[in-house]
Formats: sequence, C-alpha cells, structure tokens
Amino acid sequence: KGGHVKITIVGTGYVGLVTGTCFAETGNDVICVDIDANKVAMLSRGEIPIYEPGLGEMVERNTQLGRLRFTTDLATACNDADLLYLAVGTPSADDGTADLSNLWAVVEQAAPHIGPKAIVVIKSTVPVGTNAGAASRFKELTGREVDVASNPEFLKEGAAIDDCMKPDRVVVGCRRAEVGEKLRELYAPFLRTEKPFLVMSPESAEMTKYVANAMLATKISFINEMANLCELMAADIDDVRRGIGHDARIGFSFLFPGVGYGGSCFPKDVRALRSMATALGVDPRMLTAVEEVNDNQKCIVTQKLKKHFKDDLAGKTIAVWGLAFKPRTDDIREAPALTLIDQMLAAGARLQVHDPEAAANVKAIYGDKLSYGENPYDALPGADALAVMTEWKEYVHVDLARVAHLMNTPVVFDGRNVYSRARMHEAGFTYYGIGRSPVLPA
Ligand code: UDX
Repeated sequence: KGGHVKITIVGTGYVGLVTGTCFAETGNDVICVDIDANKVAMLSRGEIPIYEPGLGEMVERNTQLGRLRFTTDLATACNDADLLYLAVGTPSADDGTADLSNLWAVVEQAAPHIGPKAIVVIKSTVPVGTNAGAASRFKELTGREVDVASNPEFLKEGAAIDDCMKPDRVVVGCRRAEVGEKLRELYAPFLRTEKPFLVMSPESAEMTKYVANAMLATKISFINEMANLCELMAADIDDVRRGIGHDARIGFSFLFPGVGYGGSCFPKDVRALRSMATALGVDPRMLTAVEEVNDNQKCIVTQKLKKHFKDDLAGKTIAVWGLAFKPRTDDIREAPALTLIDQMLAAGARLQVHDPEAAANVKAIYGDKLSYGENPYDALPGADALAVMTEWKEYVHVDLARVAHLMNTPVVFDGRNVYSRARMHEAGFTYYGIGRSPVLPA
C-alpha cells in the first residue's frame, strides 16, 4: 500500500530529511529542497550531514531507486507536487518567540509555482495560528483557496527512522475532510499496528506539538527538582523513581534525573509556548518554573564541583565524558555539557573532553581551549575529577580500575546516574550522583 504520491519537502534538516526518506521508502516520489547547495550536493551523493543510525543507507538506497532526489531549485520542485511539505527550521528569536522568517520566505517563493490541487503541509513546529496565517497568505499570493494542513512531527534524534516509520500516533490538522483522507492514505503504511491517525483543527494540531514537548520537559524538571530534594534528605531518587513508577498513572518513562534537558526542541518549544501565553496576557507559571528548574539543573555539576573543590578550580584538570545533549547523536544544541565547559573555563580549570560523536562539533566552537581524547581513557590522565554529562553506553561499561589509575584523584560527578554507588565504592571512588547521597572514601 501507499506509494506514488509526488511529495516535495522543503528543508533537509533532521525532520525534513528523515520524513522525506521515509516517504520515499514506502514508494512515493520525493524531492527534497534546500537552499544550501553543499548540503544538496552531499545528499545527492548519498552522504548525510547528520549522525542518525540507519539514515545513510536508506538515503542511498532510495536515491539509487530514483524515488528520492535533492535540489536547490524550489520553483521546479513545486511544479507538479501533490503535497508540499514545509520542514524548515523555526529557531528561537531573542525574545523566545519562534522565528518564522524561513517559513514565510518559502511560502512567498513557492506560492507562484504550486499546482491547483496541491496541499501544503506544515511539518515545522509553528506557533498556534500559523497554518491559518499561511492559508491566508497563499490566498493573497495565488488568488485562490489553498489547503494548508498541520502535521507535527514527534520523532526523536537517534531513533528518528523508527519513530517516523512506526509512530505512536499521527496528528493532522486540516479544515477539509478530503485533505485528512489524502494524508491518511499517505501514512497508512506506517500505521499497520493500529496506531491512531488523529484528525483535528490546524490550531489543535499545532498546540498538540507544544503541549507534548512541554509535558515531557515538565516531567524532567519535576524529577530533577525531586532528585535535588532527595539529596538533602538522605533519600535516593533511584529508589524513589522505582517506588513511584509502578503506579500505572505515573509510569517510568522520562523520569530520569540528570543535568537538565537540551537539544533542538524542548528548550525552544517551552520558550515559544511561554511567549504565546504571555502574548495572550496569561502568566504561564508552570512553564516558567520548568524553564527555571532546567536552567539551574544545567549548572548542577558545576555547583557540586565547586563545593567539592571549595571554590578553587583554578588550575584543576577536569575530564568531561559526553558532550552531546543525549546519547546516539552528535547534536550539541543547548547541551548541558557546554554550560559546564563555559563555567569551568571561567573558573580557570583545564578541560579534557571526550564524546563518541559530538567532539568535532564542540571543537568547531572551542578549538584549542579544550583538549580532546580519542577514546574515553585519553581524557583522564592527570584529571582531578571526571564529569559524566551524557549517558553513552561506552561510559557505562568502562574498566573502573583503569579509570581510577589514570586520574590524579578518583573523583566522579555522574550527571546521569550511570554508575551504581556500590560499584563506585568498591572501585575506591569519591562519587557524586544526582539525587543520591555521595560515596565518600572510608
Ligand atoms: C524531543 C521529543 O522527545 C520529540 O518527541 C520531539 O519531536 C523533539 O524533541 P529529542 O530532542 O530528540 O526529542 O530528545 P529526547 O530524547 O526527547 O531528549 C531530550 C532531553 O531530555 C535530553 O537532553 C535528555 O537527556 C533529557 N532527558 C530525557 C532527561 O534528562 N531525562 C529523561 O528522563 C528523558
């Protein structure tokens, strides 16, 4: 089933590239458009500019089969598209609102070229009301009604293909039932396991995306606040987490304490939703708290380091394992590790860092201010402390005796609770986790 819809996708970032490739995989005719000629040339050769497991092979296969093409020529790519997907970035502007300049630029450029039956689908995360605004703008530019549908994306980096091909649900916001039916057919191959295809108004669909991300960010800030309290009460957040998770109303997911959320979505979407509320004259107290708690949590390892070293970090060598905002990605946008790095540099510490995928992106910003280990152990010689900022599995299964031996003093700040206290105690470490009492040498 599925197949043979002509789809043009504008924007080959994470979302656009993954979505386009998955639509090609189910037999559709897909053209991906980007203004970045280098990126388009790379993709046409089957090389992908991001790290995402399985995506390279899938791009290559579909490119060879002629179902997936890349171009910088938006006008031509719009000509006979049945569906025009907009998947351009909507970054945070300085005031926290979503910056829609990319989106509006594409609307202006595409309008003269779209066919009379084409449906425009907005995949980018956009403030509530943007779909309606785009529909009016298309009407002004073309002189006719153009269907504009909202189809928010819920994929996670690192699991993007699976999330896209086997979504928990698909949400579509549109004004006409016919538009919903066309998109239902397109998604049928992805919804074989009876997952729901939900049709609603564009406003509800736009809001769904923000509410989903705000809820998840809220869970993280909530558990981080509870973890910090546990520490002061000699309780262990890991036991508490298990104690609450078996209650089906609470569950286990997204309640892992850590060094705060980062990435390209949660920080920007929480900020954007706050701005929407403020613009409506509403004080979004929950969202403000979620953001404040997270800003503080991103400093938690620094606070613990300062306490341990009695505020004297000048000349200390700190090893940092994990730079990406989460494992299985090279993405460092709003990563808590960068907050730690900035604060350590400001305090006069020397930094020896490692990440399996994200080191090159960090080097592009910090250059020689940091030293970069080829493997985790390389970052350790002479270190006065080790901070674990991302839970890559290569950090979990390390030889702790070797770690202790390489370091100047065996002190670990485990920002993701990847080690058990018992294991660290046996290996002779001074150990600080999140929301658990420290292990101090006997
Ligand atoms: C997220 C949403 O999950 C996805 O649905 C949406 O489309 C885009 O934003 P992503 O940014 O790829 O996806 O990352 P995700 O895996 O959700 O993690 C976000 C951040 O939360 C990471 O920094 C992670 O370390 C942190 N996190 C997550 C925690 O600190 N604790 C948890 O229990 C879960």
